[in-house]
Amino acid sequence: MRPVFGRGAANAAASDCALAKKVFIKSYGCQMNVYDSARMADVMGSEGYARTDNPEDADLVILNTCHIREKAAEKVYSELGRLRRLKERGVRIAVAGCVAQAEGDEIKRRSPYVDIVVGPQSYHRLPSMLSAVIAGDREAAIETNFPVDSKFDSLPPVRADGPSAFLTIQEGCDKFCAFCVVPYTRGAEFSRPAADVLEEARRLVDGGVRELTLLGQNVNAYHGIEGGLAALIHALAAIDGVERLRYTTSHPRDMDDALIAAHGEVPALMPYLHLPVQSGSDNILARMNRQHRAEDYLRVIERLRAARPDLALSSDFIVGHPGETDADFSDTLALVEEVGFAQAYSFKYSERPGTPAAEAEDQVPEDDKSARLQRLQALLNDQQLAFNQAAIGTAPEILFDRRGKHENQIAGRSPQMQSVHVTCSGPVEADAMFGQTRQVRIIGAHANSLSGRFGRANETNSVEELQGA
Ligand code: SAH
Ligand code: SF4
Ligand code: F3S
Repeated sequence: MRPVFGRGAANAAASDCALAKKVFIKSYGCQMNVYDSARMADVMGSEGYARTDNPEDADLVILNTCHIREKAAEKVYSELGRLRRLKERGVRIAVAGCVAQAEGDEIKRRSPYVDIVVGPQSYHRLPSMLSAVIAGDREAAIETNFPVDSKFDSLPPVRADGPSAFLTIQEGCDKFCAFCVVPYTRGAEFSRPAADVLEEARRLVDGGVRELTLLGQNVNAYHGIEGGLAALIHALAAIDGVERLRYTTSHPRDMDDALIAAHGEVPALMPYLHLPVQSGSDNILARMNRQHRAEDYLRVIERLRAARPDLALSSDFIVGHPGETDADFSDTLALVEEVGFAQAYSFKYSERPGTPAAEAEDQVPEDDKSARLQRLQALLNDQQLAFNQAAIGTAPEILFDRRGKHENQIAGRSPQMQSVHVTCSGPVEADAMFGQTRQVRIIGAHANSLSGRFGRANETNSVEELQGA
């Protein structure tokens, strides 16, 4: 999942005051988890808490957890072990997110010093929970119901933080893929009304945001407006100041005609789509309960590419799902060869408690999973490098949204989602570029990023480059 560099700007009044209380929030999960962290910062900001990067400075530490794979979930317990000593100076510890939802009681049992356990649909209640817990009410320490009221109605207005922002428009999932915990941790599918989404978008744009990434576990199942996600994209693109739109994560079954067409019709909709397929084998897709065949996925890709020929594609893959044979895995490799991905995420199947796949008797041995993952990743890495190399000599528009690691370096994203680094002439230029969209000439390609210079394609700046060209 895409790394996030912006930091929820804490309540301005609170951050001006040296005595303000501070909250440290760490995200472990997907973009929605990151969005939730920013919203928790907003909630605590309206209570006078400034966000800090350092748990040592914090009065409240929130771990916003992820339950998707065993490794992600286990990380939380080791982090809690490390944080325990902070309790000596009265720091309150909250566990939020999907592990909180799934394992609330276990967290309290394994880590009794945790003060609050709050699920992803209940974090608007953090301030009242915190007050109750401080007042000694142990009953108030766990909140993992799926409340009938939407948290969105109770959250303070969103604050912009940088040129690129996430906007959750849809939550939960009704698809029940056999391997996945999301329907249990996030609950049933729910779409925010379009009016609320548009208002949040306007507020973000007024605060300087240029790029919106619409989020949902199943974002293209969005039904908060007649015409679904396509209609929402058209409405958002009409807002003055919205330069770029993206959406993630989509299910192949919900790529309807209007949404496919929007890729050709809406210039602000960037030519990049993360459309997880998980496997290229029809047997495994059926075992996963994905409700489509490999062929259906390929046809959707074909139609998307007809609408938007420069569309860069990304996917998620699971290797070693119960029942996966060598032949099934070969089908996955064949699908990857056929599509040609710009990038992708791949994982070894991880048994998740309470999911149907975890009950299956034909689990794949760990060694086979590891070997398959290695082969798949080698192929995907080759495709990604080839995709990046094809950008050399082109001059895409880059939206600069963060500082690079090196001096005077800034970084941003290409329309096709590649990270692009440019070294500026000095700190003044680097500062001035933040939040700007500029044409950048691509001069280098790496596994995970591109390097570039300001200027158009075919312009050269130096003798070395002319010789190198
Ligand atoms: N809603 C999205 C996926 C959300 S979870 C979709 O339908 O595609 C993100 C990714 O985590 C999934 O796409 C899947 O590849 C991976 N994942 C989910 N459960 C997993 C499990 N039990 N083991 C390994 N990977 C898993
Ligand atoms: Fe999980 Fe996505 Fe399947 Fe929903 S559609 S169950 S979120 S993998
Ligand atoms: Fe993880 Fe929950 Fe997101 S399980 S992937 S944080 S929806």
